[in-house]
Amino acid sequence: METLLLTEKETEQAARLLRGGRLVGIPTETVYGLGADGLNPMAVRAIFQAKGRPQDNPLILHIPEAGWLERYCRDIPPAAWTLAERFWPGPLTMVLSCKRRTARELEELKNSPVCSRTHFGPRVIPDEVTAGLDTVGMRCPAHPLCRAVIAAAGVPVAAPSGNTSGKPSPTSARHMLADMEGKIDAVLDGGPCAVGVESTILDLTCTPPRLLRPGGITLEQLEEVLGEVAVDVAVRRQLGEGERPRAPGMKYRHYAPRAPVTVVKGDPERAAAYIREHLSRTRWDGVICFEEFLPLFTGGDVTRPVMSLGPAADKAEQARRVFDALRAMDGTDVKRIWCQCPDDGGLGLAVANRLNKAAGFHIVGV
Ligand code: TXA
Ligand code: MG
Repeated sequence: METLLLTEKETEQAARLLRGGRLVGIPTETVYGLGADGLNPMAVRAIFQAKGRPQDNPLILHIPEAGWLERYCRDIPPAAWTLAERFWPGPLTMVLSCKRRTARELEELKNSPVCSRTHFGPRVIPDEVTAGLDTVGMRCPAHPLCRAVIAAAGVPVAAPSGNTSGKPSPTSARHMLADMEGKIDAVLDGGPCAVGVESTILDLTCTPPRLLRPGGITLEQLEEVLGEVAVDVAVRRQLGEGERPRAPGMKYRHYAPRAPVTVVKGDPERAAAYIREHLSRTRWDGVICFEEFLPLFTGGDVTRPVMSLGPAADKAEQARRVFDALRAMDGTDVKRIWCQCPDDGGLGLAVANRLNKAAGFHIVGV
């Protein structure tokens, strides 16, 4: 299959492909997504195949406006509307209860002519999207091209991050093509992603609401609106044998380049010094460090892959760069990767979470 690279002017074509049950790489403000019509079970199945994604990992649905929540969700708590008003369109995914069909609606469906877009399950969203859960993740993205495509397609778009399962998420059309060329119909180029890490996932089916994945909206921002917010244990540490995360995707090895990663956490000066001390004197060790410390690792007689995460104090820049830095290491022949890491404040929680997962939680404190 040839994968078309579409430009802004070809948004309509991207929407037509989605409506026709095809897969399209779509830009969002967080990361690129691998989109399909979220009401078409066959199209959604194709997402899992293209990514190599485990079947038990549900997808989130992208909608053009908060008003669409009522089409697909039930028992929507008032907090969901408050959050939508404050943070949508934007990098927040809310987990809500799925709307169910009445017995009569189900009966009517069964008597209607069968078409490939129809599914007969008890929930209005196909089980292919929710992995059979009774809840669904809903997100209203902010990227103008993304919004235009969803509005033109007129359907909720199911989209996981557009990477091959387990790899760092794509933050440019180039990343998206690197993983999906030949496997999907098109990629819509919307430029580099402004946020760079995925959306924050908040479960609103429990009290207090629970942060399942840190992302573009910070924990502090959520607390400001909601008061108390619980933080799922899977956000900060690796789960033990038999422990089940509430976001099924959090249990998988993720974001990982080929070479093993060691995260060195703590005061930036001390962390940089630690890495410098433990770095092998060969070119087989790669480094991802804050901008200020680049001179410590470049120059000298060994040329090794070194990527900047951006300035130590600029977490927004670190979020934009983190996946590109991890991906860049796969373009080299490094055998080990050392990595600096921000503290957990603000966007640091999301950046640190991605780095820690890339490292399989192999973290050294200094
Ligand atoms: O920013 C984002 O959220 C991007 C862009 C494309 O919108 N999408 C994204 O999707 O990151 P994905 O599939 O890579 O990550 C979604 C996560 C997975 O870990 C999944 O397990 C979790 O959300 N998830 C989806 N539905 C859920 C549900 N009903 N309950 C709990 N977790 C859910
Ligand atoms: Mg993902």
